[in-house]
Amino acid sequence: MEKDFVEKTLIIFKPDSIKRNLLGEIITRFEKSGLEIKEIKLVYPDREIMEKHYSDDIKWITNLGEKTLDFFKETNQFEQYLASINEMFGTKDPVELGMAIRVLLIEFMLESPLIVSIWEGSFACSKARKIIGNTIPLNALPGTIRGDYSSDSPISLITEGRCIYNLVHASGDAIEAEREINIWFPQMGIKD
Ligand code: TYD
Repeated sequence: MEKDFVEKTLIIFKPDSIKRNLLGEIITRFEKSGLEIKEIKLVYPDREIMEKHYSDDIKWITNLGEKTLDFFKETNQFEQYLASINEMFGTKDPVELGMAIRVLLIEFMLESPLIVSIWEGSFACSKARKIIGNTIPLNALPGTIRGDYSSDSPISLITEGRCIYNLVHASGDAIEAEREINIWFPQMGIKD
């Protein structure tokens, strides 16, 4: 029965975790959680693979823009931030903003090699998501990777014109994991 819940997840150690020499510490956290490492490799990604990974799926892009705007809505300077966003990106629209963030995100992922890995375990996807914490490190709980090693937030967008640096990517769910494993480890032959 237990076996039914065993799944794989794709974890990418992003350029900031490598540049900050946090790789060992972050990998240790996954190991200690009981997840089992199945594959790991260093990849010099090209634009094509990054554009597949962060696909141009309109739902995901809209969500990206909306999450960003939601962050600013919760501050007491929403109107000012919105004006800065409009000045920098020429839009306040969540879809257009999401598209702009996707471009920045892909540029960031192309900055240095990545460590790409597959981990397996019971409910591995949700487990890994709990270990990494909230997308926005400022909102991530202490004890999570993003919460412990970063305080970054969408503020970076208006101060430095860059995406959030949040150290690690982990598949959102088993379907996403299958799609992502196919992209990064096509030889694994997981069916679409
Ligand atoms: P997303 O898929 O929403 O989050 P997660 O990585 O937790 O699955 O977003 C993908 C990446 O986009 C995220 O890791 C960092 C970047 N991003 C920003 O740069 N700014 C933002 O406001 C959001 C929501 C994400």
